Amino acid sequence: MTPDLMEAGAERAARASGIHYVSGSTESGGREAGFGRIATPGEVDITHGRILYLEDVSVSFDGFKAINKLSLDIAPGELRCIIGPNGAGKTTMMDIITGKTRPDSGTVFFGSTIDLLRHREAEIAQLGIGRKFQKPTVFEHLTVFENLELALKTNKGVRASMLFRLDSAQSDRLAEVLETIHLADSVSRLAGNLSHGQKQWLEIGMLLMQDPKLLLLDEPVAGMTDEETARTAELFLTLKGKHSLMVVEHDMSFIRTISEIVTVLCDGSVLAQGTLDEVQADERVIEVYLGR
Ligand SMILES: Nc1ncnc2c1ncn2[C@@H]1O[C@H](COP(=O)(O)OP(=O)(O)O)[C@@H](O)[C@H]1O
Ligand SMILES: [Mg+2]
Repeated sequence: MTPDLMEAGAERAARASGIHYVSGSTESGGREAGFGRIATPGEVDITHGRILYLEDVSVSFDGFKAINKLSLDIAPGELRCIIGPNGAGKTTMMDIITGKTRPDSGTVFFGSTIDLLRHREAEIAQLGIGRKFQKPTVFEHLTVFENLELALKTNKGVRASMLFRLDSAQSDRLAEVLETIHLADSVSRLAGNLSHGQKQWLEIGMLLMQDPKLLLLDEPVAGMTDEETARTAELFLTLKGKHSLMVVEHDMSFIRTISEIVTVLCDGSVLAQGTLDEVQADERVIEVYLGR
């Protein structure tokens, strides 16, 4: 096959899979063999200034509209806070972004080229969207180190996992993540012996091992002590910029510490959006959520 035909084929394959296609020179400035390559998850197309884009998304459960014409977008590196009453659809929105729930209608894009509705849950994780559920789900009988190491093995076959050894870049990454999540002194501790807050940080660390572009965090400080909550705020502020974050929380003092733009969800769509002061002063938000 000629290089031109191979290039056309690679481009078609990339389009069909919804993955952003990069042609021409490599990162090191050299030329590959005349044909392009499929972009890695690190190369989500953000030229339009959005890492995540939802438009007119709706989903019903037994006739009940849990998400109702929801539109929302997030900029690269942004830390977006989502608040709203119980049942507003916050978790369901995350289920839709991560491919756990299929919407009945609407558009969900990762960057400007990846149509998330065409991907399954495991593929979406591989594309660079990490999700932290409310309850910590670390492996209690493994050490902190082993948990982080395991995060690199996911989605590999059994044989590949058995032969798996950290390369030097991965070792560096693991050390960096340990520092970020404040567990460098606890590498050999069993995860089961960590405090609730430390388990939550470890799970965030497991997500960070995959270097996700976008992190979705559902009520991350629920059940934490005040000190753990303060440390989590610091952690999120250090992640901002390097990753995009969507954080659902009820803890207003935590939101105040970390927030730029706050989106208020109610009845499955956006009720208000702005700084925390702005949304807290909004009569409709006070009515449905904050109370008088
Ligand atoms: N899989 C499901 N089946 C039926 N109803 C659901 C399902 N998931 C969510 N719901 C309903 O959708 C609404 C929104 O729920 P949820 O997204 O969990 O709200 P939030 O996270 O904002 O508290 C709730 O009324 C909930 O009962
Ligand atoms: Mg929820």
